[in-house]
Amino acid sequence: MPRQDSECAEICAIFAWANRPEPEILALLLGDILEMSTLTPHGACLLWKPELIWLNAVSDAMLAGAFLVTAFVLGFFVWRRRDVMFRGVFWAFALFATFCAVTRLLSILTLWVPAYDIEGLTKGFLALISVGITAALLLLLPRILVLPTRIQLQQAYAALQEEIRQRRNAEAMVKRFQEIEANEAQVRQAQKMEAIGQLTGGVAHDFNNILTVITGTIEILEEAVKDRPQLTQITNMISAAASRGADLTKHLLAFARQQPLQPRSTDVNALVIDNARLLRSTLSEQIEIDSMLAHDAAPALIDPSQLSTAILNLALNARDAMANGGKLTLETKNVLLDEDYASMNSEVKPGNYVMIAVSDTGEGIPGSLLDKVFEPFFTTKDVSKGSGLGLSMVYGFVKQSNGHIKIYSEEGHGTTVKLYLPQAAGVADAPATETGLSGCVHGDESILIVEDDALVREYVVTQISRFGYHTLAASNAAEGMAIIDGAERIDLLFTDVIIPGGMNGRQFATEALKRRPGLKVLYTSGYTDNAIVHHGRLDAGVLLLPKPYLSSDLARMIRTALGS
Ligand SMILES: Nc1ncnc2c1ncn2[C@@H]1O[C@H](COP(=O)(O)OP(=O)(O)OP(=O)(O)O)[C@@H](O)[C@H]1O
Ligand SMILES: [Mg+2]
Repeated sequence: MPRQDSECAEICAIFAWANRPEPEILALLLGDILEMSTLTPHGACLLWKPELIWLNAVSDAMLAGAFLVTAFVLGFFVWRRRDVMFRGVFWAFALFATFCAVTRLLSILTLWVPAYDIEGLTKGFLALISVGITAALLLLLPRILVLPTRIQLQQAYAALQEEIRQRRNAEAMVKRFQEIEANEAQVRQAQKMEAIGQLTGGVAHDFNNILTVITGTIEILEEAVKDRPQLTQITNMISAAASRGADLTKHLLAFARQQPLQPRSTDVNALVIDNARLLRSTLSEQIEIDSMLAHDAAPALIDPSQLSTAILNLALNARDAMANGGKLTLETKNVLLDEDYASMNSEVKPGNYVMIAVSDTGEGIPGSLLDKVFEPFFTTKDVSKGSGLGLSMVYGFVKQSNGHIKIYSEEGHGTTVKLYLPQAAGVADAPATETGLSGCVHGDESILIVEDDALVREYVVTQISRFGYHTLAASNAAEGMAIIDGAERIDLLFTDVIIPGGMNGRQFATEALKRRPGLKVLYTSGYTDNAIVHHGRLDAGVLLLPKPYLSSDLARMIRTALGS
């Protein structure tokens, strides 16, 4: 029974113990472990031999120092190098080294103080960290193994550099190809325009000769049938058709850069203002006209009447593009086209230009058509509305005047055409050729006509005879020279610029003047890239009657020439 009582007491004690709160149980267990009063310091095991004590103490102190420095270096490294891989591993090693240092310091402490409890706990904690680090390292091993070595990194860097170099080379090459392509496209376009120009010029030249006969003879016919209304109506129709034909050929010649120009120093601002005034009556009320004129715009070396025609053509295009109204802006400005611009636009000579820009807020031109608008007969308008010669006239005229033309357009927003005209700085005004107009258009002087086209020659002879003059005719230079060398009186030489027989009209006139110094000279031509027009400019003091001409023009110019 007493045995049973003691067992019972024991069981009760265990239950009582187990029923205590958990923190209390833990404190009791730790209390057992931490009870160090019965233990001796480590120094006692070493029998307090000073050499052994200090050997251990100094060695542990040095190890602790080394561990702390290692921990500091690792921690500092990952703190500064935030791009480094596996940062967690570095931090774990830093912690591990710190605890190693603590255990070493505790070893020194236990030489004199039996703090084996703290030392044991620290080692236990360190052991846990080591297990964690070991596990992490094993897991990371496959990833660490595939990390690139320094040599591999260098090779990869070199390969990357090579790739960059090749890419740059390829880009430069693509850019050059694009430039070459753009240049070739420009050259092709220029060659195309040149070829069309030659063709157009040739056709216009021959057509001019035919028109000269028609426009001239129709006046005689009109005179003859003036009392027969039905026939008069027909002659009026022929006359109207011929003058329309003359307008067309004029535009064609302008495009072919073969119209006779009389460039002179021209105040572009004054010309633009005059044109704006004229345009006001031509354009509808819905179109506002605005001008932005540079007060210092330099004078341009240009044929003013042709420039007016060009501005009118551009304004009419603007009007057609603004069916519902809008704004037409005329602008002038001095502009420098530099070497860079010239290198991108093959026909441009770098230098100072006066720019005239005509802008509208109309429907614009689709990008695909921009290349074509300067071609003769290109039009998007109805047959009755446009012949497609307006812009080609402007193009040819500007090029012939050594200028440059550029068109900018945005579909749905508007169009700007910029004319860059050569500045006239230092160029004296070219003498006007039609000075000294005489009111009298008839006379009795003797005129030598040199013209190779039989039809035109016949017409001219008839006309000039009608004016009362005595006529002599030759179809080429040799025949003409025979007449010059003859004894007949000759007051005026009326010659085509291009004549067969080994000389051109200019050379023929020079020869004739040597033999007959007082001889007056009047040239005619429909085609003027020739002896009296150089680079589109009529030589000073030269009189030219451009084909086709009315018989009244012929009479007037003959008088002018005789009176010069
Ligand atoms: N300001 C502009 N806005 C929109 N389109 C334009 C403009 N100027 C020219 N164009 C387009 O360019 C084409 C050619 O113009 P161009 O002046 O040579 O001939 P056109 O006006 O059709 O006929 P023409 O001038 O002989 O009466 C026009 O038909 C038109 O499509
Ligand atoms: Mg037009």
